[in-house]
Amino acid sequence: MKLRLHQFLSQTGTFASKRQAKEAVWAGDITVNGSVVKDISFQFNPRTKPVAYRGNVLHLPEEHVTLILNKPPGYLCSRLNKHERSLGKTPVFDLLPDHLSQRDKDRMVTVGRLDEATTGMLVLTTDGKLVSRVTDPEHHVPKVYLVRTAESIDEAALKALREGVDIELEVNGEVTLHRTEPAEVHQLSSCDVQVTLHEGKKRQVRRMFSSVGHQVIDLHRTAIGELWLEDFGLREGDCLDMSGMNVLALMGLDG
Ligand code: URA
Repeated sequence: MKLRLHQFLSQTGTFASKRQAKEAVWAGDITVNGSVVKDISFQFNPRTKPVAYRGNVLHLPEEHVTLILNKPPGYLCSRLNKHERSLGKTPVFDLLPDHLSQRDKDRMVTVGRLDEATTGMLVLTTDGKLVSRVTDPEHHVPKVYLVRTAESIDEAALKALREGVDIELEVNGEVTLHRTEPAEVHQLSSCDVQVTLHEGKKRQVRRMFSSVGHQVIDLHRTAIGELWLEDFGLREGDCLDMSGMNVLALMGLDG
């Protein structure tokens, strides 16, 4: 990406006006890659050549990349440690599209996590603010899951899941009991349930079902807020680049 020097300077937010940016160039206050440049139309790639004003390096505002992935089973939502690599595990980051730069690929994080076996809606981004807005517990952003159990589930179990059950959580190496918040739970068939949670503890759905005596054999996330995976027609393993779109607004969150 090549930019003219005056265009670059205007976008950094350092100068009160385009005129001031140009005057800084003409005054010899701007260096590109260490050399004074007095030509305001000088073209260069700001990713590879640092620009400084009176010795201070200037930056363009961060452009964030955000994607929706239809996560297949068998992928981890984290960078792998040595042990995981030796076990032949695969991170979701291996599914990032080729058009992203290596720098952007390295900056991507997942917005919350899905277990290795869980499938469905996963948002990946370079934008830390988006991550906090969606995952901070105080925001209670709803997440919708389709759950298949090994055996048919009865009304008593559904009622308990709706009202809240005790699940074990490990916090700083200590096991504590957590009473889950009320959840929306709809039975779709004898072994299929749609669950909407407003919190996101580790392996929460599997632990909740386990606490009422059920094993989850299939877990698929269909929505985060008002963003529904089915609206995007993504096949398993495919990503959609949402960069430049207001993903928070699409989720029904105001920002
Ligand atoms: N709850 C789980 O148990 N697992 C997930 O992957 C997501 C929610």
